[in-house]
Amino acid sequence: MAINWTEAQIEEIVASVMKSLTKEAPATKGEYDGAGYNGKKYIGVYTDMKDAIDAAESGYKAIRAMSLEQREKVIDIIRDLCRKEASTMASLGVSETKMGRVDHKTAKHMLVADKTPGTADIQAQVKTGDYGLTLTEMAPFGVVGSITPSTNPSETVICNSIGMIAAGNGVVFNPHPNAIATSNYAVDLINRASQLAGGPRVLVSSVVKPTLDTADIMYKDPRIRLLVCTGGPGVVKSVLSSGKKAIGAGAGNPPVIVDDTADIRKAGKDIIDGCTFDNNLPCIAEKEVFAFNSVATELIDAMKENGAYLINSEQASKLASIVLVEKTNPKTGIKSKIVNRDCVGRDAKVLLEKIGITVCDKIRCIICETDFNHDFVQHELMMPILPVVRVKDIDEAIDLAVKAEHGNRHTAHMHSKNIDNLTRFARAVETTIFVKNAPSYAGIGFGGEGHTTFTIAGPTGEGLTSAKSFTRKRRCVLSESFRII
Ligand code: COA
Repeated sequence: MAINWTEAQIEEIVASVMKSLTKEAPATKGEYDGAGYNGKKYIGVYTDMKDAIDAAESGYKAIRAMSLEQREKVIDIIRDLCRKEASTMASLGVSETKMGRVDHKTAKHMLVADKTPGTADIQAQVKTGDYGLTLTEMAPFGVVGSITPSTNPSETVICNSIGMIAAGNGVVFNPHPNAIATSNYAVDLINRASQLAGGPRVLVSSVVKPTLDTADIMYKDPRIRLLVCTGGPGVVKSVLSSGKKAIGAGAGNPPVIVDDTADIRKAGKDIIDGCTFDNNLPCIAEKEVFAFNSVATELIDAMKENGAYLINSEQASKLASIVLVEKTNPKTGIKSKIVNRDCVGRDAKVLLEKIGITVCDKIRCIICETDFNHDFVQHELMMPILPVVRVKDIDEAIDLAVKAEHGNRHTAHMHSKNIDNLTRFARAVETTIFVKNAPSYAGIGFGGEGHTTFTIAGPTGEGLTSAKSFTRKRRCVLSESFRII
């Protein structure tokens, strides 16, 4: 049974456990003994991936021995620490990755603390009939290997940990190489919560220097029963080709359609609010707009009133040559454009400076009118740059928006009061998330109903992951009894 602890109760538990901890538990084998990050030593971080997996396996055994009430106690303390340390993790994330905004990252941590489901998400099913009773329970996989991104680093570690612990799994993390300090801060937070709840010193683990090689050790270790990957296309592909059960959350390129029945003033504000959330890092954020020609000018005006700066096509070409760079595939020799890592998640003001435009702090988004083939439409930039493409009608809007989404089936948005148009687009685009008449973040529970996650598993079908995504179904049959009617 899940218990909802009040803040006062949690404070009391924390105080009593702190009192009982006369000395810190000794470090486990292989735990990183160096100075740590930013002068702070983290618990549960290992030099060697093998030792990290050993520790996660011990964590798994400890979780299996816990009652649901004890698991929920650990989770409640994780939520509490996440709220209290939200701004610390947000600042650390921005300073380490140079991406995103501290205020929005703080809000994302609060969202994770408040809206990540715990043990209540795990519901057994029962079937009774002439032959008796059959029970289906949601069991843990064992030790989960989790690959986490640089875009939402500590948010993903904490959200994954809550769900995976609630489901009864152990977890070893291989964080993105550009967000190690922030991700491992979150690993340390989970372990501090475990100790405060009377659990083991190391409940979840990670490595000091994660690389694709350490990830590979994780993929190949027989003790890892499930891989969960949130990241860019390369790392998601590597997990899905590992030969193990895997949950993959990868790229999107969410289009927005605005038709002539929409509340245009509201649509302009909602789109800019969503597109600029954490400087466009969430993979659900608005990436390109298809607006009916009859409302496009009014929409652009509404966007400008809400912090958007309109650039012309010449300026857009100049900006495109900076935010996208050409890369040659070493194996095939094929050239393609990829996002310039130094521009991802940057403030609009900083990006505009790169093309010689100085603006005030109120400017939070760069908008421009483009055609469908423009790089800004075709590439997922993850920056507050939003192209607007004029379309003549709903047929053209749906056709182009579906093409721009590139079959990722991730997220799409629409502003309209026409139920037929909304239904047609939702059916055609087949995305995991479809948001109507709201900023994109409503789709992950921020100002919208439903739980939150930063691991949106479109390719493997789990959708917005939660504790039950990290379970395997087990059946128990009792023949000819326990049907009591
Ligand atoms: N552990 C180990 N290696 C990792 C890793 C992890 N957790 N995550 C990524 N890597 C690897 C990549 O495979 C890549 O290796 P390669 O150069 O050999 O191909 C390398 O580290 C660089 O990673 P990548 O993230 O692709 O490049 P980048 O740091 O230049 O790009 C972003 C940054 C933000 C553009 C990119 O990470 C991205 O597209 N992120 C989207 C993340 C996301 O949130 N997706 C899911 C949403 S539901």
